[in-house]
Amino acid sequence: MPTGRRPSGKRLPRQARAPKVGGYLWLCREGFEPHLFEELATQGANPALITRGLVASDSVPAASPAFARTGFLVGKVFDHAPGVLGFPDLVGTIARSLEGLVRDRVLCLQAFTPDTAAGNRLSADAEALVKPVREMVRVGRLVDDPKAARDAGGVLGQICLCSPEVLVVGWVAAREALSLAPGGRRRMRTGPADLSRAAAKLEEALDSFGLEPGKGESCVDLGAAPGGWTARLLDRGARVTAVDPANLSKEIAKHPKLKHVRASAFAYAPEEPVDWLFCDMAWRPLEVAQLLAKWGRHGWADFLVANVKLPMRDKNGVLRRVREILAGGGWKGMTLRQLYHDRDEVTVTARRR
Ligand SMILES: C[S@@+](CC[C@H](N)C(=O)[O-])C[C@H]1O[C@@H](n2cnc3c(N)ncnc32)[C@H](O)[C@@H]1O
Repeated sequence: MPTGRRPSGKRLPRQARAPKVGGYLWLCREGFEPHLFEELATQGANPALITRGLVASDSVPAASPAFARTGFLVGKVFDHAPGVLGFPDLVGTIARSLEGLVRDRVLCLQAFTPDTAAGNRLSADAEALVKPVREMVRVGRLVDDPKAARDAGGVLGQICLCSPEVLVVGWVAAREALSLAPGGRRRMRTGPADLSRAAAKLEEALDSFGLEPGKGESCVDLGAAPGGWTARLLDRGARVTAVDPANLSKEIAKHPKLKHVRASAFAYAPEEPVDWLFCDMAWRPLEVAQLLAKWGRHGWADFLVANVKLPMRDKNGVLRRVREILAGGGWKGMTLRQLYHDRDEVTVTARRR
């Protein structure tokens, strides 16, 4: 569902615009284009609304945009009415553009559409381009797995079918990509239905952090009920203190490595420092940030993974304050990202050292 206001004087165009070659194209959750636009504008990146789920900019902002799922450098734009798929020698032209952009580096090809109803109707057409382009493109080495491209210092070749009339080809260095998933849609597999969306958020957060609690590590989970995150931490062999006045699901309540503290997280302090602090509390973001900053100042945890709720209009203003408050608490290497499984919320990761 679209949320928030459009930036003043800026409206999503009825039909997709063509982004500029040499600029950047960003994908976001539908309805969050105004927030991404504002984030890019505040950092002087001169954004433009392209269509639902897509925002362009002239440059990459210094602070990675929280509302972008992924982004890439635009190398070639096909803007062809009545339909870009009818562009003469489309596959050959895409392959030659990628050769020029990627040269002798390792390439993983990805094709995607905006994450919208209209985009989803085009996704089979976008994906159908990968095989023929792959067969034609001549670069250093082709790989199927984006992680292999990242490990080899390679690039993700990007084919974005923005609308039936606009197709964009570009690339991003795999090590610098905001996401290795095509279009930033990192779908996580989950278990029982009631715990599944929360568990998917945690799995995606840990995947994007690139670190996770190991066997025997200690975790505190603030706002843990009904227990999706806690269950995933216990599955990893971690010891978990779940802090929430509400009940935990009966599937995990008696787990030997679990302690349930039925209290407000604001009244809780750990008996000794722990390895990991998790927080998915449904509470006001600035008060949650103050609480997490207190944990940082006391050195009560080494790593932080928190989901911060953003139901208000001025999401960017609140995010700026959250960032400042957490930095004031000594949290370092902070990332704030609206991940694929996040709705009106963002995921924060950070470490103490
Ligand atoms: C979105 S749910 C958490 C879901 C959980 N991460 C999971 O995986 O099942 C939010 C939780 O925050 C808890 N909560 C709200 N205020 C709290 C507080 N002051 N202290 C502790 N928990 C709180 C609620 O009781 C609720 O269970």
